[in-house]
Amino acid sequence: MVNTLFSKRIHVSETFSNDQSLVLICNDALECAKTLPTNFFSLIVTSPPYNLGKEYEQRSSLRNYLSQQRPLIHELKRALKHNGSICWQVGNYVEDGEVFPLDLYYYDLFKSEGLKLRNRIIWHFEHGLHCSLRFSGRYETLLWFTKSDNYLFHLDPVRIPAKYPGKLHFKGEKRGQPSGNPLGKNPSDIWSIVAQDWERGIWEIPNVKANHPDKTEHPCQFPVELVERCVLAFTNDDDWVYDPYCGVGSALIAAAKHGRRAVGCDRDQAYLAVARERLQKLAEGTLKLRPLGKPVHVPTGREKVSQRPAAWDAEKVLL
Ligand SMILES: C[S@@+](CC[C@H](N)C(=O)[O-])C[C@H]1O[C@@H](n2cnc3c(N)ncnc32)[C@H](O)[C@@H]1O
Repeated sequence: MVNTLFSKRIHVSETFSNDQSLVLICNDALECAKTLPTNFFSLIVTSPPYNLGKEYEQRSSLRNYLSQQRPLIHELKRALKHNGSICWQVGNYVEDGEVFPLDLYYYDLFKSEGLKLRNRIIWHFEHGLHCSLRFSGRYETLLWFTKSDNYLFHLDPVRIPAKYPGKLHFKGEKRGQPSGNPLGKNPSDIWSIVAQDWERGIWEIPNVKANHPDKTEHPCQFPVELVERCVLAFTNDDDWVYDPYCGVGSALIAAAKHGRRAVGCDRDQAYLAVARERLQKLAEGTLKLRPLGKPVHVPTGREKVSQRPAAWDAEKVLL
């Protein structure tokens, strides 16, 4: 059951005011951040451009790219509540075949603003480009920073089933009683691998690619499921969430789905139009989303595509 703040016809405002529930602003991320209130958002969650020359960004030197991010991070910290969190999801910048993991560089930017790192979460996915001159990349990271030591963190809503829930205390006063938590275990800082995530006790959040129900025409969406975990763990009902590079609105969808208010900014009107449409579908209950925590499909071995082509082995015999 989707718990939203909204009736079937939603109103998405184009300018910020705190009597709204959903706001989509078309502007540059820094200019927009400057207009937002101080000490206001419980969660700021985003996937910024990676400076890779995608259709929505101008590639420049790594140094230049990072220096443009510094004033934005300063504004975001100002807009963040004292007990709030920033989640910054990034991958690699690549130049002439050399890999620069962006989280290493972003760490200093956040740290110099006085933010504190609580987790460096590995988001692992199974699909992507196959590299021939290095190992294929199959994870990105999500840096979770807080503004202070007094931060909101709810573990219970994001617990996952334990591998061995039947484990018992084997000594002491509680001998013979279950040793785990009936709500499940801490999901760890690897939000990853597939197969049977419930069995293996780890989260798999598939990369948003073809055949994924969340997919839109945006080239680099992040999965709504990824943000849902942040929303549930770092905010309360009715709190405000902000995505400074919101694209097609995945973060706003995750927030609205769980009864939080949200603001998104992107400088591309076409992406914002898709975001608006997705939010409307969410309110109507027709938005296709992967359910939070749904195990990723594992081939049974009977599908033709999961079988080794006979020709490969025939060739070997001939050699
Ligand atoms: C990696 S995508 C984020 C996608 C988003 N997480 C989603 O799920 O749709 C980065 C977004 O930043 C936007 N963008 C790039 N530079 C921007 C800027 N200076 N100000 C605002 N938005 C910008 C792009 O249009 C793009 O949608």
